[in-house]
Amino acid sequence: MTPSYAILGTTPNLSILELQTVLTRLDGHQNVVSISPQIARFDSSTDPAVIMSQLGGTVKIAAPVASAPSLPELIELVAKSELFTQKAFAVSASAEIDDLKSLASSLKQAVQARGHRFRFRLLSSLQESSGITTRYEEISFVKTDSHYLCLHTLTVQSLQKWTNKDFGRPKSDPHSGMLPPKVARMMVNCALPQPLSPEIVVYDPFCGTGTILNEALDLGVSVIGSDIDSKAVAFATHNTAWLKDSYQVPGSSKLFVSDVLEVTPKQVQADAIVFEGYLGPPNIKPEKIANYHKGLKKFYIGVIKHLAQLQKPGQRLVMAIPEYHSFGQVKSFHDLIDSSEKYGYTQVAKAITYGRAHATVKRTISVLQKQSDGRKISS
Ligand SMILES: C[S@@+](CC[C@H](N)C(=O)[O-])C[C@H]1O[C@@H](n2cnc3c(N)ncnc32)[C@H](O)[C@@H]1O
Repeated sequence: MTPSYAILGTTPNLSILELQTVLTRLDGHQNVVSISPQIARFDSSTDPAVIMSQLGGTVKIAAPVASAPSLPELIELVAKSELFTQKAFAVSASAEIDDLKSLASSLKQAVQARGHRFRFRLLSSLQESSGITTRYEEISFVKTDSHYLCLHTLTVQSLQKWTNKDFGRPKSDPHSGMLPPKVARMMVNCALPQPLSPEIVVYDPFCGTGTILNEALDLGVSVIGSDIDSKAVAFATHNTAWLKDSYQVPGSSKLFVSDVLEVTPKQVQADAIVFEGYLGPPNIKPEKIANYHKGLKKFYIGVIKHLAQLQKPGQRLVMAIPEYHSFGQVKSFHDLIDSSEKYGYTQVAKAITYGRAHATVKRTISVLQKQSDGRKISS
């Protein structure tokens, strides 16, 4: 089987975890290997367009054209390949390759020397693309630890659909913080290694405007959402109705107002729980961080213990909780996640930090699985 390559988005660790879970779901196994900070290699018998339609954290899937120990050797091999017809090419390169223009010019010369035409335009990054494969063939040059590689894009993320889900939904609330839909999609995927159907239910106990609920619905499962704030529940109700109407998804939705700590097993029977929890006040002052951190730690211990009572062994809990970055210091809840066993969970993978480079409030995203060994939850 020829390997495929995933060009990853801006949170590559989470993208890889997502890809592993989605391939397990589609193929029953996975062998995803990170080959550079932005690229993962994998084998799959599933149509790349089908894989792409599920993912939030992969921007392109590509096939290998050629690989070589140096760029001049790679250019010769690529020029010899059967790619070159009358079509125009869009060319990109990974950050380690600094002179893309002269690389493309050398390739043009090598292709012309073989009697073919080579019209090209340059892309600003490996991630840039946006559905241009209809007008252009797209190739990328990347450097791994051991060699150079040329990739031919097979499928790209639908920029139009992701933009619509982000900016086209009727209700938004930037003040309480909203997850980008692609991050919400990655979290939902990481929670669901099993085959998807409308009988599968995802629960978000801090649903806010419903970003996580919409991504679960868009994958074809059903959702339950709750929030302590009735306005948030009203917004999420609008947004889920909009998603269902816009994309004709098969799942159902149920929403209600509740404090997370008061939700009962009778209200929620779900196959996975996915949430972005309370992050503290917006624009938190540095001198207040220590206090909030202490209070929120107690809160999140209570939340995890409570949610554990709603889950069956083997079910997953994927959560984004805050971590505070200020003057080179980080206050996070990694210790809480590392000791999740005390609360009835095991960690599926190491916790991942998500957030803009200089943001004070970032998120720690962790994937936990309810223990199946019958161990008691400590008090
Ligand atoms: C960061 S926001 C979630 C945003 C959501 N992921 C979105 O994209 O719109 C956190 C949410 O937690 C809710 N919340 C805070 N404390 C809560 C509690 N004790 N129980 C339930 N919800 C709570 C807030 O009302 C807010 O909507």
